[in-house]
Amino acid sequence: MWAALALALAVCAPARSAIAEAPANYGLGRHLATECTACHGRTADGSRGGAIPRIAGRPEAELFAALKGYAAGRAPDGGPASSTMISVARSLDVEQMAVVSGYLATLPPANPAR
Ligand code: HEC
Repeated sequence: MWAALALALAVCAPARSAIAEAPANYGLGRHLATECTACHGRTADGSRGGAIPRIAGRPEAELFAALKGYAAGRAPDGGPASSTMISVARSLDVEQMAVVSGYLATLPPANPAR
């Protein structure tokens, strides 16, 4: 089911939500996100100065696409991809990417200006 959902997220423009579709994924998403918050901040809103971008409260499809891209060696802006994020993304399978993206999208964007 997750594989089908992840595929739907990957190919459909109006993305479906890994959390809305399967609320039981919320706990797994929160667990997976503890790896992300180690760098992206406790509230996942990035670092001061913007060296580490905010990932809380961003569209799920955007986060998912960024993770897929990093796993393939591409940065979201088309520039050189961070080796840190390449290895983070490659540590996740496609279902985990979908679930963690869905969880992060539910978080409030604490500091949208950053
Ligand atoms: C070891 C530190 C570290 C960890 C752990 C980490 N990140 Fe990152 N992440 C970064 C850095 C640094 C960047 C900026 C990379 C760049 O600008 O090239 C980044 C960039 C991103 C971006 C791109 C945002 C944008 O606007 O371009 C996304 C999405 C992202 N991370 C998601 C995640 C997720 C999801 C996790 C957890 C599964 C995670 N990161 C774990 C350090 C980390």
